[in-house]
Amino acid sequence: MRHMLSIAESSAEDVRQVLDRSYELRQAMKAGQPIPQVMAGKTAILIFEKPSLRTKVSFEQAVFELGGRTITLSAGEVGLGKREATPDVARVLGGMVHLIIARVFEHSKLVQLAEYSGLPVVNALSDYSHPCQALADIMTMMDEFGRDLAGRTLVYVGDGNNVARSLVAICGKLGIRMVLSSPPGFELDAGFLESTRLRSPELNVTRITDPRQAVKEADAIYTDTWVSMGQEAEKEQRRQAFTGYQINDELLDEAPARAIVLHCLPAYRNVEITSEVLDGPHSRVFPQAHNRLHVQRGLLSLMMGK
Ligand code: CP
Ligand code: NVA
Repeated sequence: MRHMLSIAESSAEDVRQVLDRSYELRQAMKAGQPIPQVMAGKTAILIFEKPSLRTKVSFEQAVFELGGRTITLSAGEVGLGKREATPDVARVLGGMVHLIIARVFEHSKLVQLAEYSGLPVVNALSDYSHPCQALADIMTMMDEFGRDLAGRTLVYVGDGNNVARSLVAICGKLGIRMVLSSPPGFELDAGFLESTRLRSPELNVTRITDPRQAVKEADAIYTDTWVSMGQEAEKEQRRQAFTGYQINDELLDEAPARAIVLHCLPAYRNVEITSEVLDGPHSRVFPQAHNRLHVQRGLLSLMMGK
């Protein structure tokens, strides 16, 4: 696997390999065994055009555990497409470091970094997708329900955004049924569903507008913020539009008792999810956050191991 730009562009085989390696290395780390130092003597550059806690810390830690080092740059320092054209930044980095991990607004910048640097590139979130998040989400479902998730149901309640897109793509590759429940006007674009169907003919996605109906057969209920990074100006309008889409105890009453609750975090407590649910017995959000480290260690081990 050369890059991780989106789940949609990765093969089902790639996704399974990342998860297998992630389990293997998580177990080794927990047992205190050494893991292959595939990044010894290598540098990863981390570029963040947006804030981050989980992604930044977990990538820095994963690179360290694989024997490498990181240089982290904020948006202002690099000025992708502002201080300097993105292809020029890419060409410079291509002669200095070994891996680019970037969080950007426009997904096209990741594509340019990959095209012009000659280096492997990992998407640390773009407006289009958040593939490493989806890998950690699936690991969390596997921790709960076993490694074969075929036939399980993931219900996404909320905004049809980058996180939803990556979840649809990964569910299509692993045979997980997906239900999308979004208020009118905030659904995942039909064009994306169509193109995912072409890549994964077995994709099983249903749209159910009413969240109370949507969660009826859920094994996992997932939500994300209603106001993604970059949409802050729409905050009030969005909060109004999403009324009725909160994950709360009433909604959980409509779901099977086995259902777990996932959220990529950061959460706006008592907005898209109540504190009772976030901190309650169905929540797996903190193991889910920790799995970011485990899947990214697995991913980098595969990408940098050749
Ligand atoms: N879930 C996630 O990507 O968190 P950060 O924005 O804190 O990295
Ligand atoms: N959809 C959110 C995810 C944050 C991890 C955003 O893009 O801000």
